[in-house]
Amino acid sequence: MNKPQKFLIAFLTTMVVVFGAVVIRVWALKPPVGFKVAAIPAGEYDPAVWGKSYPLQYKSFQKNLESAPSPTGYGGSVKEQKADRQPEIYTNFKGNPFSKDYTEDRGHPYSLDDLRESKRIGPTSKGACITCKTPQLEAFYNEMGWSYANKPLEELLNRSQHPVSCANCHDPETMNLRVINPAFIEAMARRGYDVTKASQEEMRSFVCGQCHAEYYFAPGTSQVIFPWDKGVTPQEMYQYYAAKPHDFGQDFFQPDSQVPVLKAQHPDFEEWQNGTHGKFGVSCADCHMPYMRENGRKYSSHWMTSPLRTIEDSCFPCHTENRDQLYNQVKATQDNVWQLQHTAGLLVARGHTAIAKAAAMPGVNREELDKSRELLRRAQWYWDFLAASNSMGFHNSVQGLNTLGQSIDLSNQSIDAANRAAGVNTL
Ligand code: HEC
Ligand code: HEC
Ligand code: HEC
Ligand code: HEC
Repeated sequence: MNKPQKFLIAFLTTMVVVFGAVVIRVWALKPPVGFKVAAIPAGEYDPAVWGKSYPLQYKSFQKNLESAPSPTGYGGSVKEQKADRQPEIYTNFKGNPFSKDYTEDRGHPYSLDDLRESKRIGPTSKGACITCKTPQLEAFYNEMGWSYANKPLEELLNRSQHPVSCANCHDPETMNLRVINPAFIEAMARRGYDVTKASQEEMRSFVCGQCHAEYYFAPGTSQVIFPWDKGVTPQEMYQYYAAKPHDFGQDFFQPDSQVPVLKAQHPDFEEWQNGTHGKFGVSCADCHMPYMRENGRKYSSHWMTSPLRTIEDSCFPCHTENRDQLYNQVKATQDNVWQLQHTAGLLVARGHTAIAKAAAMPGVNREELDKSRELLRRAQWYWDFLAASNSMGFHNSVQGLNTLGQSIDLSNQSIDAANRAAGVNTL
């Protein structure tokens, strides 16, 4: 063979290999086709009934009952108290039920059991808590509108048989993806976005974002509100809260320091949006609901757990790195975030102590003391944004580390201000 012939063969071989790789990639990313829509009647909330028509999805959904530690040691499906690893929780949430009972989350089928067992609820708890725990929310909202949120939680819990399941995310008749939480739809509308017009790709994250998001209850009505009017970064959400929307000032006062604290609630959807994968259009379902095969039939896994249990199915459709490289990269990111998160949390706790000591001093400078409280309120919100999110920073490590860095700076500024207020070093 002469030189041009050799080149031609090499060229053609390369083209075939590249073409093959592209075809395999595109095929791996393609959704299952040809599944038969069963037209389940509206108002059917029992996943076992849906499961008769969609056995593969139902079988994987049942795996959400399994309890296991996460492959990285962060998160996982074992119900442990978060304060065991983060004792700063006792100080930072003192005066709030989160200091008494705050456990690691587990699979969707436990959402009602865990709500019933929580020491954070009592006879005065509001119906608003049911919003993200059952598909029966649809029936409550249809029947009562937002006033379900102000009913006693106990009344709605007694009427709820089914934890998070099919009807939270699917229209029973068409199987199209849908969002049933009105708080999500309203918050997106305030940002100029009509959820009913969302693309299929967007819905693969919106169905999760309707629950895995930060919220507050409006005082008086208990209506659930997502604080996204100014944006979804920790800074933008803090600014939103600073304007006391609907007269909502704080979740509680820390009793030692009298800081009006905002408790962050699992802002996974917000965190992901500005992260690498969110920006590149990789959806929650791409990683947490990978395509699987059984007897030649392709389906979306409904086992919503750590994607590191399924690296081949979750990551390989896009990444060429091997298993260990991907695992090690995630783990290293999380270790870095955890270290800074713990440091930030401990420093917030020191801030509460410094302010309490300063406040007890005769002749304390009230203006400096208020400054110190405001700085700590912000420091705690930044720390909690990470502490309350579920991926230990993986969903958005750059923003996460920046937020924790700012938290540490703000706590130090707060402690300085408390010392100035007291006229001596309090710690
Ligand atoms: C690029 C892949 C990817 C995307 C996209 C993604 N996640 Fe994750 N998620 C992960 C990884 C990796 C972890 C960490 C798992 C671990 O530590 O074992 C995680 C952890 C979690 C956890 C905690 C799991 C536990 O064990 O407690 C939740 C909840 C979660 N993600 C929800 C979401 C939601 C909601 C979205 C979309 C808004 C999303 N994720 C988008 C990869 C992803
Ligand atoms: C938390 C949200 C959520 C829940 C709960 C849920 N699904 Fe899905 N389901 C999805 C998403 C996301 C897809 C992917 C849709 C797409 O990309 O077109 C999907 C896809 C499907 C499909 C289409 C075929 C496939 O496998 O992709 C079927 C059928 C299905 N789900 C059945 C069920 C059944 C049955 C249940 C209850 C046992 C259920 N789903 C619960 C989110 C959910
Ligand atoms: C109707 C509300 C709701 C929807 C919709 C929802 N989740 Fe959840 N999710 C929860 C609740 C509540 C828990 C915690 C349950 C518990 O601890 O009892 C949870 C827990 C999880 C966990 C932790 C599981 C474990 O074993 O530690 C993961 C991962 C998760 N969700 C991912 C997702 C993804 C991905 C989607 C979208 C495809 C989604 N969720 C949609 C409410 C929801
Ligand atoms: C649908 C495609 C897609 C899937 C699925 C996906 N990724 Fe990615 N990932 C990307 C893109 C795009 C980037 C950014 C460009 C790049 O670095 O190549 C990225 C970047 C990354 C990075 C570097 C940036 C960062 O955020 O740290 C890591 C690590 C990563 N992915 C891990 C994972 C893991 C682990 C999984 C599976 C749980 C996964 N990815 C699933 C598309 C994907």
